[in-house]
Amino acid sequence: MLYSEKVMDHFRNPRNVGEIPDADGIGEVGNAKCGDIMKMYLKIDDGIITDVKFETFGCGSAIATSSMATELIKGKPLEEALTLTNQAVVEALDGLPAHKIHCSVLAEEAVRAAIKDYYDKNNIPYNPADFCDHDCEHCGAEH
Ligand code: FES
Repeated sequence: MLYSEKVMDHFRNPRNVGEIPDADGIGEVGNAKCGDIMKMYLKIDDGIITDVKFETFGCGSAIATSSMATELIKGKPLEEALTLTNQAVVEALDGLPAHKIHCSVLAEEAVRAAIKDYYDKNNIPYNPADFCDHDCEHCGAEH
């Protein structure tokens, strides 16, 4: 079996799909490897992610990882959401085939971009290293 049951479940029945019209932070990222894009919307109250939704034109693995990522960060403080790695999402899904790991990067980066958007809009200071665009080892993208 190429895909785990959890991947198939989140792919067939993705959680938190859609748009939050009055989102506090929006992150849009593209995957350098395949060109697929992902948009993540966050509702933030007192530093806590109270709601999250995503839209993607990515593949099935991107849908499954985004769905799982939204479940992992919902109700969590921003600092905790920022530590979410694509590896953690892949583990929560019981793995992905090696050639699909790059798809999971989209979700992690979209979460990060949405939090950065929120910080920027509200003039909240942050450590730029948390949002480095050129951490190639981490995101696997070709710059
Ligand atoms: Fe593009 Fe999976 S092939 S996100």
